[in-house]
Order: sequence, then C-alpha cells, then structure tokens
Amino acid sequence: MKIFLDTANLDEIRKGADWGIVDGVTTNPSLIAKEGKPIEEQVKAICDIIDGDISAEVVAIEAAAMIEEGKKLAKIHKNIVVKLPLIREGIKACKALSSEGIRTNVTLCFSAPQALLAAKAGAYLVSPFVGRLDDIGHVGMELIEQITAIYSNYDYKTQVLAASIRTPIHVVDAALAGADVATMPFKTLDMLFNHPLTDKGLEQFLKDHAKSLAKS
Ligand code: G3P
Repeated sequence: MKIFLDTANLDEIRKGADWGIVDGVTTNPSLIAKEGKPIEEQVKAICDIIDGDISAEVVAIEAAAMIEEGKKLAKIHKNIVVKLPLIREGIKACKALSSEGIRTNVTLCFSAPQALLAAKAGAYLVSPFVGRLDDIGHVGMELIEQITAIYSNYDYKTQVLAASIRTPIHVVDAALAGADVATMPFKTLDMLFNHPLTDKGLEQFLKDHAKSLAKS
C-alpha cells in the first residue's frame, strides 16, 4: 500500500520525505488555505520535495470551469493529479480530463455507487473518506472493503485511496481491505512508528552494549 501525506505543510512533507516512506501527497482547498500561499506556488513546492503523485483540487463546480482549472493545475508539474469533487459536474470533468490523459482523483466519495461512477469516468484515484463516515456513526472502513471488491470484480484500473484516515488502526484496516493508497495527516504517519516494546527493547540493548564496553 502506498502512503501519502494529507497535508500542504512543507515542514511536515520534508520530515516525511526524510524518512523515505512517503509516496505522494494529497491536498484539498482547506489544507492549502491553512498555508496561506496560492495553490500553484504551494503545490509546486510540494512537487519539489516529493517525487510522487501530488493531488491538487479544483474549486470550480461547473464542468467546463473544472476542466479549465484542472488543465492549469496539471501544467504545474508532471506529478500533479487533478482532484475533482464527486458531483455530476465533477464526474463529467473527470471523463473529459481522463480522456485527454490527465490523471484525476475523485474526492468526497462517501458511497459505493459514487465510487462506481468515478471508475466509469476513468478516474486515476478515488478518495473515499473513512473518518468523516465514522464521525456520523457509520463504519467508514466498510466503504473501502466494498469499493475494493467492486473494482476487483470488474478489473477497474481506478486506485482506491483511503482518505480521511486518522489513526494507525485506520491504516491497518485500509491495508487489510486492499486499499491501493492511504493518505494521512503527518501526526498519524508519525504514530505508526510507536510501540512501547520497541522503546523498551532498544533501551535494554543500549544498556547491555554500554556494560560490555565498560568491561572491555
Ligand atoms: O483530504 C481529504 C481527507 O483526507 C480529509 O480528511 O480528516 O479532514 O476528514 P479529514
């Protein structure tokens, strides 16, 4: 499973990149707004740090305008994936951009029929939001299971990007469900490292090593 960072913060992206395990980045208009820079500038800077898929989202809500905006975003860097909302106009724009070879990420997906439409429209990625479904009392991960099963039944090429991932358990469950990608905030990625037995074991190894040095 590929690991993406769900952030537009360059410090976080640099830290993740340093670890060598970040395959890409997803952004959305809220994450871009937090950084206070125009989207073109921010995603270009992200592309300079990570050599992988970098999602940049349109803010237009009408297909023709989405297509125009998407083409501009795609020109920023070869790794840009144009993010489009899963609405009627977004699906129409997805079909048009995909037909021209521009890679798309259909976002704000909350149901299996929506995911089917994204695949039919030739999306490169679909982003089902796990955490936000959990927030309203659903089991968000069931959606990932449904989509991976449906896509596998028909050999759809659209990759399932588990989004709105917030905990290490989400990451594990997404991997078990066969998600192609999990995108997560830096904080969640950082938590994946943690285990008290690792810390305890390392402490003991270092103590024993120091003792053996003292003896020699
Ligand atoms: O970028 C889309 C998604 O991952 C947002 O997550 O935590 O705001 O629901 P969250």
